Amino acid sequence: MNKISTKLAISFFIAVFIMEAILMTYLHQSMIQSRVNEEFARLLSNGSNHRNVLIENYSDTTIKHIVMMEKDIDREVIITNNRGEIISRSSGSVLEKFHTIIMNLDYREDSIVISDWNKSSYIVSAHPFQADGDKSGYVVMFQSTGPIKEMIHKLNMHFAASGVISIIILFVVYAILSKLLTRPLIKMKEATEKISMGDFNVSLPYLGEDELGDLSSSIQKLAKDLEHLKNERNEFLASIAHELSTPLTYIIGYSKIAMRDGITDEERASYLKIIAEESERMKELVKNLLDLARMDETTFTISKEQFNARPFFENVYKLVQPSYEMKNIKLNLICKEDFLIYADPIRLEQIVLNLLDNAYKYSNEESEVTLEVQKNENKTVISVIDSGIGIPEDEIHLIFEKLYRVEKSRSRLHGGSGIGLVVVKELVEAHGGTIEVKSKLGEGSIFKITI
Ligand SMILES: Nc1ncnc2c1ncn2[C@@H]1O[C@H](COP(=O)(O)OP(=O)(O)OP(=O)(O)O)[C@@H](O)[C@H]1O
Ligand SMILES: [Mg+2]
Repeated sequence: MNKISTKLAISFFIAVFIMEAILMTYLHQSMIQSRVNEEFARLLSNGSNHRNVLIENYSDTTIKHIVMMEKDIDREVIITNNRGEIISRSSGSVLEKFHTIIMNLDYREDSIVISDWNKSSYIVSAHPFQADGDKSGYVVMFQSTGPIKEMIHKLNMHFAASGVISIIILFVVYAILSKLLTRPLIKMKEATEKISMGDFNVSLPYLGEDELGDLSSSIQKLAKDLEHLKNERNEFLASIAHELSTPLTYIIGYSKIAMRDGITDEERASYLKIIAEESERMKELVKNLLDLARMDETTFTISKEQFNARPFFENVYKLVQPSYEMKNIKLNLICKEDFLIYADPIRLEQIVLNLLDNAYKYSNEESEVTLEVQKNENKTVISVIDSGIGIPEDEIHLIFEKLYRVEKSRSRLHGGSGIGLVVVKELVEAHGGTIEVKSKLGEGSIFKITI
């Protein structure tokens, strides 16, 4: 289970092991080396002291003193004459092992004769002397390697202890890692599993500001967003069902009446007209829904091109003018200068037609609607100004929501489904543009698009 912490602990262990191995080997070697060098230096210094005393004052008493000084410690001394015969010695036991070496000494100055402290039980130095007359020979010093070996043994014990302590620390680190890292990760995994099962009610503990904390709060946010989306989708589906069922009720009702015997042709024609109108509304709604679905999937593409403003808007004007005329609404087009627009002409037409459709629907007869097009720096500003029924101030921010309509009963009168502005907003934003609304209830509205 605790895979990450195990992996981390192993990497940590390998890193620490390599580091410790290198450091400890270096430390071990240099400590031993300096201790051995110390022993050599002391041995040479003692030997040369004895030799100097002997040169200055060569006598049996001096020799006896030298030998006595080296008794009872880890050092031994042997004094030989120039024929290799032993004049005096501090111990007999040394002699047997080193007899041949002592017999064949041939040095002009103080020298280490045996330096291999590891194999030999003594390190040996030789100090040639030349006193009055033919009194010459060697002061041979012996230093037992026992203390060095004992010191190395102690050192090894210390190093082993620190190795064991390192391993204990490693296990503590492993336990902490497992607590700090793996457990929150397992909790987050459980939370995501819960989310994928459709249960968005997850609560993760606060883990601080680090990457784990970020991940935890992202999961929490994801759960919240998904819950919001799910609710929104349910509401949306319910609204659609409602929207579709209303015209269907009319269609079914009126078709039943139209089928009855004993009604006049005129009456039948009027019922069929209502059925046709309601079917048209449904068709419109389904078309808008399809548009919306395509936008949500972001499968629709914007293909921008450059085109002239005036002919474009004159064409739009011509398209809507007849229906405006039927309702006796005056439509003005203001496009003072002709300039180039960089946009998707089909989508832009859809945007403007939607706004003009709203202005038409939510304006009273004999009123006026203005479509104004201006160039502002590199941008195109399109305003649709009407003096219609307006939108209550507290509802302005809601009109871009799916299926939202101000005063549902009145909208039914106007035949809206509350999708037009959602489509407009998505299209404007896909162009990288913005939409602004100013409206006053009973006075009129201004929809201003900048792209
Ligand atoms: N120019 C306007 N004047 C007054 N109210 C408006 C205007 N434009 C939009 N509205 C309000 O905003 C609501 C949402 O508009 P939207 O265009 O999204 O939907 P709709 O016109 O009702 O239906 P459709 O999907 O057919 O366009 C409308 O129902 C209407 O109440
Ligand atoms: Mg509309």
